[in-house]
Amino acid sequence: MSKLWKGRTSAKTSVLADEFNSSIKIDKRMYKEDIEGSMAHVAMLSHCNVITKSEAKKISDGLSKILKDIESGKLKIDEKAEDIHMFVEEVLTKRIGVVGKKLHTARSRNDQVALDIRLNLRKEITLINFTIDKLISLIIDIANKNRDTIMSGFTHLQKAQPITFAHYILAYGMMFKRDMERLYDLYKRVNISPIGACALAGTTYKTDRVYEAKLLDMDGVCENSIDAVSDRDFIVEFASDLSIIAMHLSRLAEEMIIFTSAEFDYIELSDAVTTGSSIMPQKKNSDMAELVRGKTGRVFGNLMNILTLLKGLPLAYNKDMQEDKELIFDSIDTVKNSLSIFIEMLSTMKINKERMREDASAGFINATDLADYLVTKGMAFRDAYKISGEIVSYCLKNKRDGDNYCNKRDTHVESCNRQSQCRGELCEPAVPTLLTLENLPLEVYKKFSKLFDKDVYKFIDLETCVKRRTSIGGSSPKNIDRQISFLKK
Ligand code: ARG
Repeated sequence: MSKLWKGRTSAKTSVLADEFNSSIKIDKRMYKEDIEGSMAHVAMLSHCNVITKSEAKKISDGLSKILKDIESGKLKIDEKAEDIHMFVEEVLTKRIGVVGKKLHTARSRNDQVALDIRLNLRKEITLINFTIDKLISLIIDIANKNRDTIMSGFTHLQKAQPITFAHYILAYGMMFKRDMERLYDLYKRVNISPIGACALAGTTYKTDRVYEAKLLDMDGVCENSIDAVSDRDFIVEFASDLSIIAMHLSRLAEEMIIFTSAEFDYIELSDAVTTGSSIMPQKKNSDMAELVRGKTGRVFGNLMNILTLLKGLPLAYNKDMQEDKELIFDSIDTVKNSLSIFIEMLSTMKINKERMREDASAGFINATDLADYLVTKGMAFRDAYKISGEIVSYCLKNKRDGDNYCNKRDTHVESCNRQSQCRGELCEPAVPTLLTLENLPLEVYKKFSKLFDKDVYKFIDLETCVKRRTSIGGSSPKNIDRQISFLKK
C-alpha cells in the first residue's frame, strides 16, 4: 500500500519501521465504524457545500460497496496497510478515482481514530450490558428456585450465619447491577463526537460538527478540539469498569471452585464446563471458573497499561495512543467471554440443597440466634453472647453418645435430640457424633441458664433464623422479594 502521508518525507520507511508502525491487525476491528464515520463525514461536507452532491454520492456509494465487500469476504483487509483508516481511503480512491481523495477534507486521522473508537466502544458497552442483563435474569431465576435452600453464610471463610442460596446469589446480582449502571453512565461520555477537531486546532472550512454528530446518533460534540483528539479518559474508564466486572466475576469464580470441591460439595458444575485430568481418573476440575479468575489479571493489567501510556503524555495526539486499542479490546473480549462462560456455568449447575443444609447444621451458625433467644427471655445481649459461646465450646469439647438418638422413624419426634434433623432409622450412629446446638439436650442447656426451655429448638432452627432476619436486605423471604424486584427494575 502506498503512503497517503508522503510529502514532507520520502515515505521510504524500512520494512521494520512499517511493521512496527502498523496497527491494522488491531484496528481492522473498527472497519465498520470507520466507514460509518466517513459516510457521515461526506454527508456533512455535502450538506455544508464543501463538496458537491454528486461527489458526495460517488464517495458514499464507494464506501457502502467497500463495507459490503468486507462483510461478504470479497475484500480482504490488507494487513500490510498502516491502519484501517488508510486502508479504506486507499481502496476507495483506487475504486472511484480522484474524487475519493476529497473524503479527507476537514478531518485528520487524529479525530477520525478518536471517533472510530468511540463508535466502537459505545457498541461494545451496549453488548456487554445486554450480556450482564442476561446474567442478572439468570441470577433472579436461580434465586427464585432457592428461596428455601438453607446454607451457611461465611465471613473469613468460616461458617457465620444461616442464609439461603437465594440471598447469597442475589448479592452478586447487586454487584452486576452496579456494573451495568457504571457502563450506562460511561456511555454518556463515550457518545460525544470528536470529529471535526481535525489534527488538533479545528478547521477553516465551514463545516457543521453538530450536524455530523447527529447523523452518527451522538449526543453532542467535544467542546475543545485539542481535548477532542487527546482525550482517552473514556477508555481508562471503560477499562476500569471492565476491571470491576472481572473482579466481581473472579469472586464468584473462586466460590464456584470452593463450592464444587469434595469438601464442600455444595454445587456440581455440568460436564460441559468442567474438565478431567490426564492422569487422575477421578477428577472433575472447574477449569472455566479458574480461567475466569486467572484472566482477571490481564484485565487489571490492561487498565494499568492504558493509564501508564497516557501518563505525562503531552497534548495533543501522540502515536503512543495507538496502543490503547489493543488493550481495551483485550479487556472487552476477556470480560465478554468470561460473562458468557459464567452464564453457561450457572444455568447448568446443580445445587446440592441437602448437602448445604446438612453442612449448615454442623457449624454453630445459629449461635447468634441462641444468644438472641436469651435476649428475648430478658437477658442482656453481652451476657447472652457469652453463654452462647460457652455452649458452643461445650459442644466442641463433648461428643454425644449414640443412645440419645432414636432408632425408629415413628418415635423420633419424642425421643430424638436431633429434632428436625432426625434421620429416622439412619439416625442411630455407630460412633458418638458431634454435638450441635440443635441436638444438645435441654438438661445441658439448663445448666448454662435457667432461661432455656424446649422452645429453644424451634427458635434456633435454621429456617426460623433465616425467616427472622427481616431487616431490609436480610435473608427473610420478604427481603428476597424486595431484592428481586430491585434487580428487575
Ligand atoms: N493508527 C493511528 C492510531 O491508532 C491512527 C491515528 C494516526 N494519526 C497520526 N497522526 N499518525 O492512533
